[in-house]
Amino acid sequence: MSMTQVHPHIFVIMGATGNLTRLKLFPALYKLFEQGVLSGKCVILGVARKSDIDDRGFRKLAHDIIKNTNIKIDDAKFSNWCNECVFYQSLGKASLEDYKKLATRIDSIEREKNLPGNRVFYIALPPKAFSDSVTSLGESGLNRSSGWTRLVIEKPFGRDIVSAQKLNKLIHKYYDESQIYRIDHFLAKETVQNLLVFRFANTFFEHLWNRDHIEKVEIIVSEKLGIEGRANYYEQTGALRDMISNHLTQLLTLVAMDTPSGLDASAIRNEKVKVLQQVKPIQADNIVFGQYSSGKIDGKAVIGYKEEDGVPENSNTETYVALRLEVPNGRWNGVPFFLYTGKRMSRKLTEIRVHFHCAPGSIFQPFENTCILEPNVLFLTLQPDEGISLRFHIKSIGEPLTLTTKDLHFKYSEVFGSPPDAYETVLLDAITGDQTLFVHSDEVESAWRNYTSIFEMSIPLKYYPAGTDGPIEAKKLAEKL
Ligand SMILES: NC(=O)c1ccc[n+]([C@@H]2O[C@H](COP(=O)([O-])OP(=O)(O)OC[C@H]3O[C@@H](n4cnc5c(N)ncnc54)[C@H](OP(=O)(O)O)[C@@H]3O)[C@@H](O)[C@H]2O)c1
Repeated sequence: MSMTQVHPHIFVIMGATGNLTRLKLFPALYKLFEQGVLSGKCVILGVARKSDIDDRGFRKLAHDIIKNTNIKIDDAKFSNWCNECVFYQSLGKASLEDYKKLATRIDSIEREKNLPGNRVFYIALPPKAFSDSVTSLGESGLNRSSGWTRLVIEKPFGRDIVSAQKLNKLIHKYYDESQIYRIDHFLAKETVQNLLVFRFANTFFEHLWNRDHIEKVEIIVSEKLGIEGRANYYEQTGALRDMISNHLTQLLTLVAMDTPSGLDASAIRNEKVKVLQQVKPIQADNIVFGQYSSGKIDGKAVIGYKEEDGVPENSNTETYVALRLEVPNGRWNGVPFFLYTGKRMSRKLTEIRVHFHCAPGSIFQPFENTCILEPNVLFLTLQPDEGISLRFHIKSIGEPLTLTTKDLHFKYSEVFGSPPDAYETVLLDAITGDQTLFVHSDEVESAWRNYTSIFEMSIPLKYYPAGTDGPIEAKKLAEKL
């Protein structure tokens, strides 16, 4: 979204030896350098407790990270860039003293590179380290500087309403909300941003976007991947916290919200929060929890969740959630929203499906109350191919008159080439100070208010073989209109 200028700054990655840095942050930052967006304006300082690497070791790590991606690099150019712009600071035991040393190192890099004191701190740490890190940044004075200071914080933000409120309170002790960038990288996907354009710039859809025309909305995030060695993280999280409370909820708010008064961050956020405040309390019979057992993905045998390294054999952690919820306001009363997410599913897919009512009283639909025609469906696909499709009816060629359905397609890649990775977008937005695609404290807390009660319910865990579409109970839930 960002259109503003990049000012010279230091980009501090807290958790620079972790998975997220390797998979997303470093490749995204490097691409922004390569495109010239950050060149000459950004110095990267990697920070982790690991003490057996230094600037050189971290530059080597950066090189290996980029080599492992499909980004082509000129080795000489890359190592010049690394020598100029990439540094590492060990945080030792992550004590306050260590944070003070970090502050001294940042000052010294800023002096050496003639930077004006603009700082981004990206908290790419395990969630249990968020609070201590924010406290130590604040107590060591790293929450302010001679320029601007921004704090980017990864998901999940809290584990329930109480912990989210506690974390917000702690962060607000040291940072103003205008300095805080809570990441939900789904919001940076082109299709998600396009949802606003699609809904509010095309009169024909905004007209239909309500209970009179829409039967149900499905929001699906399914992955083929399992937990990829992250048992420790996943055991503390589960699918409800990992996916539903943030990514799927964000998609829900963008589909369901009313017209914002403008495109600025606060106007959009206000409308999203209203949706979250209007969600009807979710009852246990509208929830299905699942866990994958062994099965096959793309013909290859894969183990069940309980057999994954580090997962206790009696684990009750859900790797799948199906949820039916309602937003009983003037626009949506009576329209169910179904949220589905799971690991080790038959396919990788992130999609919003808007199902319209079947054509009532049409000449092709002569019997009242019986839907013989398949309804129109609008597919907003975020992964694997970002785009939009509309399923509609056409007449097949020839006699007798036969109706069939076809999809009208729009694919981003066909029109614009590959869209940027969502992390490129969110990093650039944090650097330029555009908060539109980040989650405000109100939103986080309103979302948790809807889900926290679920943790107190006893939802039976259903099993599904890896490589399928989830437990059969979810199919039954899907029929509940
Ligand atoms: N991995 C992903 O694909 C992914 C995707 C979306 C969001 N996220 C989020 O990103 C965050 C990081 O995930 P990750 O997968 O990168 O975790 P990770 O692989 O466990 O890496 C964590 C990093 O933090 C450092 N660290 C751990 N404890 C620390 C402490 N107390 N103080 C300072 N540094 C500490 C680790 O290095 P040392 O042990 O040397 O300190 C390491 O560099 C999490 O909030 C996660 O939910 C991850």
